[in-house]
Amino acid sequence: MIALACDHTGIELKKEIMSLLDSMNLEYKDFGTNEAVSCDYPIYGYRAAKAVASGECDRGILLCGTGIGIGIAASKVKGVRVCTCSDVYSAELSKRHNNSNILTMGARVVGADLAKMIATHWLTAEFEGGRHQRRIDMIAAIENGEEL
Ligand code: RB5
Repeated sequence: MIALACDHTGIELKKEIMSLLDSMNLEYKDFGTNEAVSCDYPIYGYRAAKAVASGECDRGILLCGTGIGIGIAASKVKGVRVCTCSDVYSAELSKRHNNSNILTMGARVVGADLAKMIATHWLTAEFEGGRHQRRIDMIAAIENGEEL
């Protein structure tokens, strides 16, 4: 199950991502917003990130104007590893090396076709484990207030 969320700038791009997920037979849950009025991205980023952290959803795709604000908000939730991407290489490597579980993109940065290409690379890439798992464990330790 993929968590989707956006602020008012990302509504149209979210619809494009939904059609991509439909074509890939991937299920999603929409955490809003769906109202084209100015709103606060932390609310929607937080709701989707909580769903990922709790296991209700296994990953998420979040959208705002730049992808940055909603990504910062989502990354405050423990257990979430956000990648904010506008290219396919970063999106793919963020999964293979960083096991990112939330992808954010900027609806004012990337066009729909590029966003769907980025999402496809991210959704189909697989975490490689090994030395990368060690580093992710270190990130989790930082999150838990431990010293490295
Ligand atoms: C909204 O104007 C804009 O600030 C928001 O969508 C996002 O880009 C913030 O990071």
